[in-house]
Amino acid sequence: MKLFPVYALNDITVVRAEGSRVYDDQGKAYLDFYGGHAVISIGHRHPHWVKRIEDQLHKIAFYSNSIKLPIQNEFAETLGRVSGKTSDQLFLCNSGAEANENAFKLASFHTKRKKIVAFQKSFHGRTSLAVAATDNPALVAPVNETRNVHFLPFNDVPALQEYFRIAGGEIAAVILEGIQGVGGIHVATPLFLKAVRTLCDEYGSVMIADSVQCGYGRSGHFFSHDHSGIRADLYTVAKGMGNGFPVAGVLIHEKFQPVLGMLGTTFGGNPLACAAGLAVLEVIESENLILAAREKGAYLCEQLKAIPELLNLRGMGLMIGFDVPEHRKDLKKKLLSEYNIFTGEAKPNTIRLLPALNISKGEIDELLHALRKLVS
Ligand SMILES: Cc1ncc(COP(=O)(O)O)c(C=O)c1O
Repeated sequence: MKLFPVYALNDITVVRAEGSRVYDDQGKAYLDFYGGHAVISIGHRHPHWVKRIEDQLHKIAFYSNSIKLPIQNEFAETLGRVSGKTSDQLFLCNSGAEANENAFKLASFHTKRKKIVAFQKSFHGRTSLAVAATDNPALVAPVNETRNVHFLPFNDVPALQEYFRIAGGEIAAVILEGIQGVGGIHVATPLFLKAVRTLCDEYGSVMIADSVQCGYGRSGHFFSHDHSGIRADLYTVAKGMGNGFPVAGVLIHEKFQPVLGMLGTTFGGNPLACAAGLAVLEVIESENLILAAREKGAYLCEQLKAIPELLNLRGMGLMIGFDVPEHRKDLKKKLLSEYNIFTGEAKPNTIRLLPALNISKGEIDELLHALRKLVS
């Protein structure tokens, strides 16, 4: 059987990884400023993460959610403490798209409404309603097309107010990333986040903070939406949550009344996933990685700002983007081919930096050295 191709592949075969280094089959080392697409939060194969999963494997790897699995409670309690959302409830699942699908269901069950407001350049996943709320028609199959999703311009308060004035009573949920990732690193302004919160309160709609990419400390806050001081009704999390182990979740405000059978999953919250997730939170706490993301991100941005050919620098913490002029559009390729550095991209000419939160200053300086050489 052959693999069904999904992405354009780099001609590199990776076989091993450690910290912020990835190694190919020839033993060549690459510096990882992409974090496997914002997934690697505490560094590849962090020893505590390896040990936590290994220890769990010797106890129990899986059983159905119809019995008590105490490690789930431990995970929920720890996530509540580290995220500051102590009174929320946790639904565990397996991927970012699945977390968003379940958030939409909860919002719709709760409000008994159907309409979702999403924003231009958003990305919420590739399944059913998550892809319908993703602003990329190329990903939407005919079966995913729906009139229940309405797109508005990002960070445009008057447009949002106007749409609520017209359709507020029908809106089940507003979903937004605190920092748009796939869309090219666009930070939601505090004014905009507060307007979403106020309008959702006024019209009885649910605010969903998609934190799949921008959450889990990456922005220098646990949730990137936190910097505006608002609290969302639902937070969806994945990527950095398991540091590479597939685990995702929805943090659900206490006002949502659970009804048995409303949500469900076979694999979500399995003990191995919980062990991986707990290891991530324990390392975030013990290594103070949220503060590290803020401080290292500030240093990196300050240095990037001083490189004149890097344009429109933006982001927060260790979720950073900049544009390159047309004549430098091969910069990402050159970082990889000449300096063995992985970075991310967004169309048309944006470079995205999404390293592990414990990337070292020396590793940051390595990237800066390569950038200065390549654009001067
Ligand atoms: C903001 C955001 N939401 C949702 C998703 C979908 O996550 P997954 O690929 O785990 O389904 C992504 C993936 O890139 C994302 O960036």
